[in-house]
Amino acid sequence: MKGITVGEGQHAETVTVPTRVRDEHARLAAEVEEHRHRYYADDMPVISDTDFDQLLRSLEAIEERYPELRSPNSPTQKVAGSYKTDFTSVEHPSRMLSLDNTYSEDDLDVWLDRIYRELGDQTHQLLCELKVDGLAVDLTYEHGRLVQAATRGDGRIGEDITPNVQTIAGIPEQLVGVHVPDRVEIRGEVYFPMAAFEELNAHLVAEGSKPFANARNAAAGSLRQKDARVTAARPLHMVVHGLGLVEGFQGIDRLSSGYDLIKQWGLPTSPYYRVVDSRAAVKEFIAYYGENRHSVTHEIDGVVIKVDQLRLQVRLGSTARAPRWAIAFKYAPAQINTRLVDIKVGVGRTGRVTPYAQVEPVTLAGSVIEYATLHNQDVVRAKGLLIGDTVVLRKAGDVIPEILAPVADLRTGSERRFVMPTRCPECGSPLRALKEGDSDLRCPNARACPAQLRERLLYLASRACLNIEHLGSVAAAALTHPLKPAEPPIVDEGDLFNLTIDKLLPIRVSALDPVSGLPTRDPQTGEETVVTVFANQRGKPKKSTVALLRNIESAKSRPLERFLTGLSIRHVGPVAAAALARKFRSLERIEQASVEDLGATDGVGPIIAASLKEWFAEDWHRQIVRKWKAAGAVLAEELPVAEGGPRPLEGITVAVSGTLRYFSRDAAIEALQIRGARVTGSVSKSTSFVVAGENPGSKVDRANRLNIPVLNEDDFDILLDRGPMSWTDAAGRRLDQRNN
Ligand code: IVH
Repeated sequence: MKGITVGEGQHAETVTVPTRVRDEHARLAAEVEEHRHRYYADDMPVISDTDFDQLLRSLEAIEERYPELRSPNSPTQKVAGSYKTDFTSVEHPSRMLSLDNTYSEDDLDVWLDRIYRELGDQTHQLLCELKVDGLAVDLTYEHGRLVQAATRGDGRIGEDITPNVQTIAGIPEQLVGVHVPDRVEIRGEVYFPMAAFEELNAHLVAEGSKPFANARNAAAGSLRQKDARVTAARPLHMVVHGLGLVEGFQGIDRLSSGYDLIKQWGLPTSPYYRVVDSRAAVKEFIAYYGENRHSVTHEIDGVVIKVDQLRLQVRLGSTARAPRWAIAFKYAPAQINTRLVDIKVGVGRTGRVTPYAQVEPVTLAGSVIEYATLHNQDVVRAKGLLIGDTVVLRKAGDVIPEILAPVADLRTGSERRFVMPTRCPECGSPLRALKEGDSDLRCPNARACPAQLRERLLYLASRACLNIEHLGSVAAAALTHPLKPAEPPIVDEGDLFNLTIDKLLPIRVSALDPVSGLPTRDPQTGEETVVTVFANQRGKPKKSTVALLRNIESAKSRPLERFLTGLSIRHVGPVAAAALARKFRSLERIEQASVEDLGATDGVGPIIAASLKEWFAEDWHRQIVRKWKAAGAVLAEELPVAEGGPRPLEGITVAVSGTLRYFSRDAAIEALQIRGARVTGSVSKSTSFVVAGENPGSKVDRANRLNIPVLNEDDFDILLDRGPMSWTDAAGRRLDQRNN
């Protein structure tokens, strides 16, 4: 154990810090310094903000325990950002402070409590705005002219970036309007819009330069260019978030009115701020942008809450580092660094082959992420990704996580390029581009490719189509590619309605190792271990198997449009399928329709029409429909009464409200009209009845008020089948007698 000696030539007092701790402190301090340099001087950080905060916190924790290590040279004591660079140093007219951070509502409450306590009963408002993830700048205007622009640096001295800032389109050279002070410091954040960021990186990669790891580095790197012409070519934006020194005009009493004035001077202020006067409203603002942080054009990493009245800001004052009148609430990070372990390819239900990233699992915004989408090979190339790279992983809203960029500075030389396979990874068929020059590749083996069949079956069973709850991915794989028996019960989706318990019980699949995902083998025989999917250990059907068969039975009578959607015909989504079902009313008639008739359907153009014709031209496709029909699937929305036939609902006025289970809205309207009913969009005294589905809304309330009968979907069915005579109200009147 080594000690440090305090005091010279006298009784020495030894403060012992274990060598191990001292070494760890030195190592961490050097690491923090290095990352700060990469961040502030090079604009090329190699770790995420979260990881950096973690390092700094570890260092602080050591110093908390051994305060003697907290020398003025420790990174915990120095203001970041003062690095020697190629730019000229300039002093800010007034000091640029930082912000204190909070990470939880409890911490925020502590701050709010203090504000409420210190301001007592003084009426005050809080201004809530977004914390823009960019680069702080300080603009000095004299008599309305931009005379200096500087980075924050250490808060006192920054870098002179005036020529660069002058190239930013939104920053005026000359302020206009009234009350322009003799001298004013405008503070704000320069940022790189998210949409433009990907484009910039693609361009950098294409010319052989290093891409930026995230949008903030792109902003900093673009702004801190020796050659301002480079800055000029980058779509930088700025948003004002405060004022420094103001000389020659004292009329601003609130930050919010300051923003209004600043906006009139021609400077870019944020449209997203709100002035509130309650704790609840602050939290509401935080919650709203927590949910919607990706609806904003730039990255945000939190919300800043500021006391609006300047007089009260002065009263609350500042510490050496940050104002007491403002606080940042930081959101959980939406970006994190991890390693790109591999790039694999997946085959979708239409045969499209897409690369996706397998990353070292990390937790981001509350979920563990192992895979990220990569769209197509052009995206892999444009992002400049190499297998083995450290990458920035980003989660935007609810969507699947994506890789933002590689951290090129961490490459070791062992990374390798991704090569798009030329054959389908599941069936080995040579891949084809759909069109000449198309970067999307497809597996042409639509019928037999295990991946395509499995994915089509899963889609057919999904909620958007036949809603077969118990047909998930395990069942889909087992039904189409079991290990035993050799002949799968489902060769194509035409076999769906022919499944029986006898076909399901013998199905065996390979038991997969939960860690490697590979089939497990019997150590003695070397044979693959097999498990049943649909039978329990006694060979009897599992509960879920019975439910699956029941699901399939009821799926036979799903509306036509759901069947049509479920066929995975290119370009035929739910909207086109509904329009086609409404017009043609049976799958047979759609099959027989001419391309012109199909194309003349509302919302169905020539592309969808051609795609339908192409699909039905395939023999095995037509067989799917035949097999379904033979197994008892309805596949039609036949009306019991044909056009030109009797009109049993003549004289009746109907309004339809809410979502019906088995009728699209238009189909319900047509079914009524064809029987002679008048269908109206609103409910009035002359309405005979209202048909109400799910979430019916105000029409039902109005009907109840006017004492008009409300029919549920079952009543509606009966009415369509048997006519108005079948339904009588409480007074015993038939529907067709009520209005007389
Ligand atoms: S106010 C004295 N407002 O965050 C108040 N800062 O972490 C100081 N930032 O250095 C700044 N958005 O560069 C303020 N709406 C906002 C901000 C914001 C981003 C930056 C700013 C500051 C850093 C502190």
